[in-house]
Amino acid sequence: MAAIQAKHNQATRFIHSFKDIIMSKLLHIDSSILGGNSVSRQLTAQIVASWRASHPATEVSYLDLAVDTPSHLSAEPLGFRLPAGSADLSDAQKRENAHSEALVSQFLAADVVVVGAPLYNFAVPTQLKAWIDRIAQVGRTFTYTDKGPVGLAGGKTVIIASARGGVYSTSDAGNAMEHQESYLKTVFGFFGVTDVRFVRAEGLAMGEAAKVAALTAAQVDITAQTQTAANQAQAALAA
Ligand SMILES: Cc1cc2nc3c(=O)[nH]c(=O)nc-3n(C[C@H](O)[C@H](O)[C@H](O)COP(=O)(O)O)c2cc1C
Repeated sequence: MAAIQAKHNQATRFIHSFKDIIMSKLLHIDSSILGGNSVSRQLTAQIVASWRASHPATEVSYLDLAVDTPSHLSAEPLGFRLPAGSADLSDAQKRENAHSEALVSQFLAADVVVVGAPLYNFAVPTQLKAWIDRIAQVGRTFTYTDKGPVGLAGGKTVIIASARGGVYSTSDAGNAMEHQESYLKTVFGFFGVTDVRFVRAEGLAMGEAAKVAALTAAQVDITAQTQTAANQAQAALAA
């Protein structure tokens, strides 16, 4: 039994190192509404460039949620909750269903997902929430069993570029107030993603010195988070 487990672990490690040599897919997502002034956009661009430098066999696709914003959930986008091909689907539901399907397929196909996540009003931008609402689908990204929910999108690495005007990470009170990093960690974890990494620039609205310090800290995060191979949490679990 131990020998079989050792062989399995060896094979798992081989697959993970092999995944770094063969082409892998990176999905780059921005959601800031601040265009050229956005810090999270600057960070996601740097993360993607640094990831590609460390992992040259990476194919990148891009989704700008501030430009291509999925509509908020309503009766139409909820079409995907009806059986495929159902005669009950209206044309609008079919159209929205196809949009949801394209978004969830794009997410599921990615090995690495880089998400630009500003903190707006203590939470993620509504554009990013609308995307999450489209990809949160029973049978695609999660399912329920008699033992509770099970994520179906494991095996990915998600890197969150977090940009915040204030500082939240250094106190319990701050951590309790923010529903951006904590929410993203919960929802990607719910989808089965065990390898969620953060690049954080916080205190951006607290004066020039604090902003410089925040951006400097983020550069350290970028180096650390892009040089580790994808899906290390799972690799470590398997070892
Ligand atoms: C609409 C809006 C709401 C904001 N709400 C908060 C907030 O609740 N807490 C905070 O610390 N900063 C807040 N900020 C500051 C942003 O977190 C900061 O500007 C950050 O750089 C945003 O990321 P971005 O530059 O990529 O858009 C807010 C900024 C905007 C534009």
